[in-house]
Amino acid sequence: MATRKSVSSKLVTPPFDRYDFYRRAVQSPDVDVRFLRDTYREIKKTEPRDLREDFCGTFAISCEWAKLSPKYRAFGVDLDNEPILYGLSHNLSQLPKSVRDRVKIQQDNVLNPGLPKVDIVSAMNFSHYVFKDRAVMKSYFHNAHSTLNVGGIFAVDCFGGPSCQKPSREETDHRNFTYIWEQVSFDPVTSEALFHIHFKVKEPGGKVRRHNNQFTYDWRMWSILELREMMMETGFRKTHVYWEGTTRNGEGDGIFTRVERGEECEAWVAYVVGEK
Ligand SMILES: C[S@@+](CC[C@H](N)C(=O)[O-])C[C@H]1O[C@@H](n2cnc3c(N)ncnc32)[C@H](O)[C@@H]1O
Repeated sequence: MATRKSVSSKLVTPPFDRYDFYRRAVQSPDVDVRFLRDTYREIKKTEPRDLREDFCGTFAISCEWAKLSPKYRAFGVDLDNEPILYGLSHNLSQLPKSVRDRVKIQQDNVLNPGLPKVDIVSAMNFSHYVFKDRAVMKSYFHNAHSTLNVGGIFAVDCFGGPSCQKPSREETDHRNFTYIWEQVSFDPVTSEALFHIHFKVKEPGGKVRRHNNQFTYDWRMWSILELREMMMETGFRKTHVYWEGTTRNGEGDGIFTRVERGEECEAWVAYVVGEK
């Protein structure tokens, strides 16, 4: 005799996927790759082809770069197998084969020699702040320089301002979740700072669940001047700073232009670009 299965009226909560929330709250790889392409064109007056995404994590930038032109190739490098495997199953697998074939990922240390030679090396989301020691940061910059094709560019992002020199907590609401960026500390003697990313997620039944300490960053806050000096000391011919414009209400407008001088603000994000 057939038995009737009872259908549960309970709403099922999908398993928490920290990389998915991170992607929705933090990343904008489509914007990043256009900035990198346009900066290369502006400085070199020619077309780039190959990009290396150092500290690539789930290598969203590499995937977007390969999507930008059928000629473009991307190489991602990260120490950690976990985000790489996530990127393979969630990002790379979504791309058509013709794009996928132009993305190569390797589990490696960005300090190691022999990384793929490219036109653009990028270190984004402040990942290079993990190097706290000047000699180590310089050996990374030196490696970036020696693995660039002649005339290539090295682009790193950076952030700072008075509000990054004290503990703080900033909440940003998104559809169904809140992204929380917490600065736990800042040491004025060492410039070391500790950050956490937390999420508050509204579950299907309406309950809000906290997912604390999903990502933690133990960084040294490098200044723009230090980054430029280290680029010059490791062989770059010139360096440039791209500073973000401001909207009428004083927020960053997401448009970065080359500047000779910055302006005072509570918190800023900028790019430093070295030319080989
Ligand atoms: C802040 S996360 C950024 C990931 C990615 N760029 C993004 O925006 O999502 C920093 C990444 O750098 C990687 N990493 C840290 N030290 C590294 C090193 N020496 N060589 C290669 N990867 C490293 C970590 O495994 C982590 O995935």
